[in-house]
Amino acid sequence: MSTDSKKIGNNGESSTGELSRRRLLGSVGAAGATGLVLGSTGGAIGYATARPDKPTALTTVGSTEEMFHGKHQPGITTPLQARGHLIAFDLAPGTGRKEAAALMRRWSTVAQRLMAGEPTSGGSADGTTHDTGIALDAGPSSLTVTFGFGRTFFERTGLVAHRPPGLDPLPPFSSDRLDSKRSNGDLWVQIGADDALVAFHALRAIQKEAATTAGVRWQMNGFNRTPGATAAPATARNLMGQIDGTGNPKPTESDFDRRIFVPSQPKTGDEAKYAWLAGGSYAVVRRIRMLLDDWEKLPVAQQERVIGRRKSDGAPLSGGTETTPMDLDKAGPDGKLLIPDNAHARISSPERNSGAAMLRRPFSYHDGIAADGTPDTGLLFICWQADPLKGFVPVQRKLDRGDALSPFVRHEASGLFAVPSGAAKGEYVGQRLLES
Ligand code: HEM
Repeated sequence: MSTDSKKIGNNGESSTGELSRRRLLGSVGAAGATGLVLGSTGGAIGYATARPDKPTALTTVGSTEEMFHGKHQPGITTPLQARGHLIAFDLAPGTGRKEAAALMRRWSTVAQRLMAGEPTSGGSADGTTHDTGIALDAGPSSLTVTFGFGRTFFERTGLVAHRPPGLDPLPPFSSDRLDSKRSNGDLWVQIGADDALVAFHALRAIQKEAATTAGVRWQMNGFNRTPGATAAPATARNLMGQIDGTGNPKPTESDFDRRIFVPSQPKTGDEAKYAWLAGGSYAVVRRIRMLLDDWEKLPVAQQERVIGRRKSDGAPLSGGTETTPMDLDKAGPDGKLLIPDNAHARISSPERNSGAAMLRRPFSYHDGIAADGTPDTGLLFICWQADPLKGFVPVQRKLDRGDALSPFVRHEASGLFAVPSGAAKGEYVGQRLLES
């Protein structure tokens, strides 16, 4: 790794004390002045410096390093990366807690090395010891590897007593068209990087380390805008063309941690059984197909009413700029609400959901043309919250009942995972559960 690389902690801070210019991508221009802001790139966190108008220098893309160790796992508050792989595994028959612990130890070692831009080396259970060389010449490229446990993991490992209620199955929604083979799983790994080869290299390494302990259940590949592609920092767009991520909770808000991360548990009583998850979070993963052929036929003015925001700049239809709060009561000269009753941003807003909030950090996907001739394209929707019953579930329930976006999307796969806290130095991810 080059000596001038930037090291970024899991809360977005730079361990060299420098502010990475790449971080600028997470911050909208409106943030303007110097200081920490939460950008709106799907929850991406960014630092606005005195030069927010400058695009990312290409040389910083490869050299930016995210920290493996920290209070929280990387890949939650990390700015959106250009490439993503989501992969779920099921433990092999006969595999239990001991083997699962050994796998988490191996995976943690590999993740730490790769995130530091170092090759993997030695020790694979299946005897393959060499690094594949796929990422040779590239720096860490903001690689993050994040691990989660699904509900079934606790049965397989004899740890059901430590399974938190937050992992209770998500309720069914009327619009669900879920494929069980591409849903859930014992273990979940999220890989993100700003370079496609770096991301793929990590995916192969993680798969190889699983060896005979766990087999792949499903895998999905996604992408976001590449750092430096826009002339100025800008919020990401999804494949419907909308600016997506504006309303995300911001780490500068006093209740950010309470909403996104699991609080410390009491040392005694029932709750103590879930103490291992303190500092962790829950990830809800949904593969949401976008029915683009239908969507693209809608005139832009109608597309904007579906969301309640302008397509060009993400400003609410009640007026202002992207960062102006929505005025949900404002009506036009005809007396009609400017942000319609069924607009997606209205229905999902914390204001209309007793404060329910989540950090949306998605990847787009495009898997070619489906058998019916339509694009197999959409959003790998990933949202983070301290409790799914106070985040995804109530909001999706409400969206399910009357979201103007519903006719244009289809939920095709679903997963819910408990994501442990970050590992301390010398520790592996999930150790506090597996050695409890
Ligand atoms: C393909 C599916 C979806 C698309 C294209 C989409 C798109 C958008 C867009 C463009 C916005 C407005 C900008 C913003 O605040 O980010 C938005 C807001 C939001 N969406 Fe979605 N969304 C989708 C699915 C979902 C789902 C499944 C949920 C949760 C159950 C959700 C929750 C939210 C929330 C909480 C907001 C912010 C509302 C606010 O703060 O006012 N979205 N979405």
